[in-house]
Amino acid sequence: MLIGKHLIDPSDFTREEFRELFDLAHQVVKNPEDFRKSCEGKILATLFYEPSTRTRFSFEAAMLRLGGSIIGFSEPNSSSVAKGESIADTIRTIECYADIAVMRHPKEGAPRVATQWLSAMPLINAGDGGHQHPTQTLTDILTVELLKGSVENRVYGFCGDLKFGRTVHSFIKFLSNYEGIKLVLISPEELRVPEYIREEVIKKNNISCIEADKMEPYMKEMDFLYMTRVQRERFFNEEDYIRLKDRFILDKEKMKYAGKETYILHPLPRVNEISIEVDQDPRAQYFQQAKNGMYVRMALILKLLGIY
Ligand code: NCD
Repeated sequence: MLIGKHLIDPSDFTREEFRELFDLAHQVVKNPEDFRKSCEGKILATLFYEPSTRTRFSFEAAMLRLGGSIIGFSEPNSSSVAKGESIADTIRTIECYADIAVMRHPKEGAPRVATQWLSAMPLINAGDGGHQHPTQTLTDILTVELLKGSVENRVYGFCGDLKFGRTVHSFIKFLSNYEGIKLVLISPEELRVPEYIREEVIKKNNISCIEADKMEPYMKEMDFLYMTRVQRERFFNEEDYIRLKDRFILDKEKMKYAGKETYILHPLPRVNEISIEVDQDPRAQYFQQAKNGMYVRMALILKLLGIY
């Protein structure tokens, strides 16, 4: 039962609850029109304290396609945040007006803190600093299931900024509940996954894992290669960003090393890490992935509101 729950971190839902959610998401993908009046009279609030394109628009499009309405801000300085209002007061006010809310914040843990001030409204974390981004994981997993049928017994490559890339942290955390997962983590030394992911998620769950600084030798065996952008906004200095930003670029040449069914995913936005020539390759699935994000968010809203 997902009604009334918050989704702040992948560990907030059980494996059974995720199954329930993805089963509904598959129904939404098949017949989105069947759901077009499901949220009539309901309001979704989007509170974005950091930039976003896909996450915010896909949540808003999801609610609109369900027949509901949306309120919110994408520029916190247009709200009372500019006057120094605390998250606690903002979220308590939003609960007076909306049925469900989505929050993106630059500070790790901010959405979790916000939940302490709520009495009934479900809150969804749309990215907190370099920490977690669970609904991007929903998008990624729905894409995995649509392309390969199941999550288990697969090889997942992750490449780029694995230190600050919150989508990677949530994806790996999610995968740790499944059997037969192999990880290949490709990054510059300075951008390897954080210690808590390596120790408390990967090692604790005995997940097979290779850390590497080249993608070519491993691409053939990968079911998915998840490319990520170097997260400029989380760096302390610009020189380090410039030095690291173009270390891994997936281009047509490198795609020759990939298997016939090695699918390329990316949460987007892309900067330089995938050449645009790769977009034509049928294995490049990142724009379809962005579309799946809307469908799975439709399912999430329906579940948290207890409509399905
Ligand atoms: C990601 C994010 O915000 O963490 N984008 C997204 O939500 N699709 C990835 C990124 O910004 O690199």
